[in-house]
Amino acid sequence: MNARILSGKDIAESIKSEVAADIARLKTEYGFAPCLAVVRVGDDPASAVYVGNKVRTSEEIGLVSEHHHLPENVSRAELVGLVRSLNWREEVDGILVQLPLPDQINEREIIEMIDPDKDVDGFHPVNVGRLSQGEKSLVPCTPAGVIEILKRSEIEIGGKNAVIVGRSNIVGKPMAMLLLQENATVTICHSRTRDLPEMTRRADILVAAIGRPGFIRGEHIGEGATVIDVGINNVSDVDLARDLFGDDEIEKRLAAIEKRGFTLVGDVNPREAKEKAGNFTPVPGGVGLLTVAMLMKNTVEAAKTRRGVE
Ligand code: GUN
Repeated sequence: MNARILSGKDIAESIKSEVAADIARLKTEYGFAPCLAVVRVGDDPASAVYVGNKVRTSEEIGLVSEHHHLPENVSRAELVGLVRSLNWREEVDGILVQLPLPDQINEREIIEMIDPDKDVDGFHPVNVGRLSQGEKSLVPCTPAGVIEILKRSEIEIGGKNAVIVGRSNIVGKPMAMLLLQENATVTICHSRTRDLPEMTRRADILVAAIGRPGFIRGEHIGEGATVIDVGINNVSDVDLARDLFGDDEIEKRLAAIEKRGFTLVGDVNPREAKEKAGNFTPVPGGVGLLTVAMLMKNTVEAAKTRRGVE
């Protein structure tokens, strides 16, 4: 089998242009553009890149965006004050506090303080509860992006065996809820699962969200399965890179390690997945691109719901 590569690029571009058209229409019909406020604390380099992407994409598609950057040693009171003021401000439709937060801040307290109607990450317990009960809610962006990739690539979900490896609140658990809503038979596997390869080989749709580079190997993949790789790991080990990439890609990867010190690798061994899977999302260029596109979509959805317009 030589897997079809499901590129996130075209799908993310389509979603962004649909959202841009919707924003233009809201401006014409109702005289407002939705507003997204992004909060970043400290100088985590990965967070700086992610937030930069979010702010830049907002501007590209016509959202109003605000970037609030607080120092690493910010007090709880200061961050709480900012979130409260964003909750109160009528013109702010979406609030995103980039995680992780520094140790002195209780992440859960901050997430629970965000107005659920502005919670464009879908992390607030009210939105988690609504999603699990099948109600309209703001849905976490990465798993929502996975559903878009499956649907727009015309991969059937209903009645299929979907197996998710990883049970995080950001990806694994909401992914399970969304696949269930699409009538898949859903299994969640994790570090305590016995005989993981036996479980994952049953999957028609296998979602890997573990956070370990190349963890899912050929032995985990059923012939012809759709493999969705949610992992984003920095790999600097040349031997590991050689093990993960075939002749078609290894030179490019080694050059990246040489130049930047690392190459971006998913949770799936790409060389082995290409041999066994029917469909496969690459890293980079797969699910990651959808996350920002879905954040834009969520912000417009939040704005419409809050302001009572269609
Ligand atoms: N950090 C890593 N992923 C995310 C995400 O989706 N949202 C937020 N707020 N922080 C993150």
